[in-house]
Amino acid sequence: MLIARHIDCPPCRLAAMTTAAPAMAAITPVDTRPEWKALVAHADATKQLHLRDIFRQDPTRGDELVANALDIHLDFSKQRVTRQSLQLLLSLAKACGVEAKRDAMFRGDRINVAENRAVLHVALRAPKGTVIQLDGVDVVPEVHRVLEAMAVFANRIRSGDWKGHTGRRIKTVVNIGIGGSDLGPAMAWDSLRVWSTPEIECRYVSNVDENDFHLKTHDLDPAETMFIISSKTFTTLETMTNAQTARAWSLKGLGGDEKAVAKHFAAVSTALGEVKKFGIDPANMFGFWDWVGGRYSMDSSIGLSNMIAVGPDAFGEMLAGFHDMDEHFRTAPLHQNMPALMGLMNLWNNQFLGCDTLAVLPYCQYLDRFSAYLQQLEMESNGKHVQLDGERVRWETSSIVWGQPGTNGQHAFYQMIHQGTKIVPCDFIAFAESLHDLGVHQDLLTANVLAQAEALAFGKTKDEIIADGVPAWLAPHKVMEGNRPSNLLLARKLSPRMLGRLVALYEHKVFTMGAIWGINSFDQWGVELGKVLAQRIIPELSAAKPDLKHDGSTNALIRKYRSWRGR
Ligand code: F6P
Repeated sequence: MLIARHIDCPPCRLAAMTTAAPAMAAITPVDTRPEWKALVAHADATKQLHLRDIFRQDPTRGDELVANALDIHLDFSKQRVTRQSLQLLLSLAKACGVEAKRDAMFRGDRINVAENRAVLHVALRAPKGTVIQLDGVDVVPEVHRVLEAMAVFANRIRSGDWKGHTGRRIKTVVNIGIGGSDLGPAMAWDSLRVWSTPEIECRYVSNVDENDFHLKTHDLDPAETMFIISSKTFTTLETMTNAQTARAWSLKGLGGDEKAVAKHFAAVSTALGEVKKFGIDPANMFGFWDWVGGRYSMDSSIGLSNMIAVGPDAFGEMLAGFHDMDEHFRTAPLHQNMPALMGLMNLWNNQFLGCDTLAVLPYCQYLDRFSAYLQQLEMESNGKHVQLDGERVRWETSSIVWGQPGTNGQHAFYQMIHQGTKIVPCDFIAFAESLHDLGVHQDLLTANVLAQAEALAFGKTKDEIIADGVPAWLAPHKVMEGNRPSNLLLARKLSPRMLGRLVALYEHKVFTMGAIWGINSFDQWGVELGKVLAQRIIPELSAAKPDLKHDGSTNALIRKYRSWRGR
C-alpha cells in the first residue's frame, strides 16, 4: 500500500522550517479601527432600509454603482449599500492598507509568512520582458521557459507526432490531481470546450474513491491514453494512489513493459526528486514554484491538460486575460477597482448584514464547475480563524461559497433564496453574446438572470399581490419580501481571455478580503489534521489486531467497517 509522506503536515513541515518567528509588523485588529466601528454604527442605522427605499432615494445608482473594465460590467447597485456605506467601506480598505499589501504581493514580498513564501501567481501570466524579482532573481524568464516547454509537448500531442508505446497517437489525456491540481484545469476544460481540439478528450481523476478512476478510464484504450500526474508536492495521498493505479492499469494494457511509462506519463510538480522516484522521465516533467499556491496554480503548468486541449495560443490568451485583470487590480483606484469592490460587498454582507453564504450563479453552461472552483479559492484562502500574528479573529471570515449554473438553479434552490428565512447574497454572472446562436436562447437566458436579480432586490408586496386579484388568504404565500442583495457581472462574451479575467477577478477579490481581515490567505493548515489522522487509521482498517485508541465513536466505526469487510 502506498503511504504518502507527511511533507505537508505541520510537524514535518515545521521541522523543515526555521524555529525563529518571522519578522512581522504588528497587526491592528480590524474591529478596533475607527472605520470598522463607523461601519458597525452605519449598519445599525441603515438596517431597516429596503432596496426599494434605497433606489427611490438614489434613482441613478443603477448607472453609477457600477464598475466597467475589460468588457466586464459589474453592477453592484442591488447591494444593500448606500453611497455612504460605500465610502465607509472604501475608507476601511484604505485604512487596512489594501493597496500597500497588494503592491507587496506584486513586488514578491514573502507575504505568506506562515510558510515564509512569496505569493507570485501574478508572475505566471506576466508578459515576456516584465521583471518580477524574488530574492534578486527575475522569475519571469523561467516562467516563459516552462510555458515554451509545455507548448512543445502540447503541440506534439495535439498533432499526433507524439506516439504512445505501440505507435498510436494519444486520444485521451487524463489529469490526476486534487484540489488546486484538479479544480482549475477541470473547470477550464469545461469552460473552454469550444476552443478544444476534437481530436483529444481530457478527463479528470481526483477522488481516492476507486469509482472515480474506474469511471474515467473503463472505456479507454491504454495505448491511446496519456496520464498527467499533477501535484505540487507529489506526495498527496489521493493523487499518488491514483497515479500508482494508473501506472498499473497502463502497464497491464501495454504488455508490462516499463518503458511504456515514459510514453504515457507526464508530471506537473515542484518536486523533481519525487517525480523521478515515480519513474517519470524528467524530460516530461513541467515545473512550477513554491511561490504558487495550489489554488492559484491553474495558469501554471498545472494547466498542461488545458494547453493540450485548446493549444498554446488560446492558453496564452487565457494568461493574457489573467494579466489584464492583474493590471486592473494593480492600477485602478479602489472606487473603480472591480476585485476590491466585490471584496467589499462580500465583506459588508458577510460581516455587517450577517449573511453567511455567497451563491455564485453563472448563466452559462460552460461555467458549470466555476462555483466548485471558487469554493477552494475562497474558502481555503480565507477560511481562517487567526490573524497573521496568530491572534484569534473576532469577526467573520470566509463566506460559504456555493452555486450552480442558472437557469437550472432557478428550478431547484432559488425558492429558498427568494422566500426562505436566510438571506443569500448572489453573484450572477452573465454574458451578452452566446457561443452558439440557436435563436432565442440567449435573450431568454439574459431575461432570466435580470429577472432574478430584480425579483430578489424588489420582491412583491402583499398589496401588489392582492391588486393582481389574488385572494387575501393566498397572498401571504406569494409575498416576495425582496431586499436580497446581489452583484451582476455582465461580460461581453466567454473566451479564453475572458475566463482568465474572471478567475483573476475572484483571486484578487479574495486577496482584498484577506488583506482587510489581516489573515494569511495563502496557507491551508486546516486541511492537515485530517490527513494525519487518516494516515493513522489506514493500517488500523486492515491490521490483524489493531489497538484502537481513538474516541468511542471513531473506534466503533472502525470496528463496524472491519466487520462488514470480514476482518
Ligand atoms: O487541500 C490541501 C492542498 O494542499 C491544496 O491546497 C492543494 O491544492 C491540494 O492539497 C493538492 O496538493 P498537491 O498539488 O501538492 O497534490
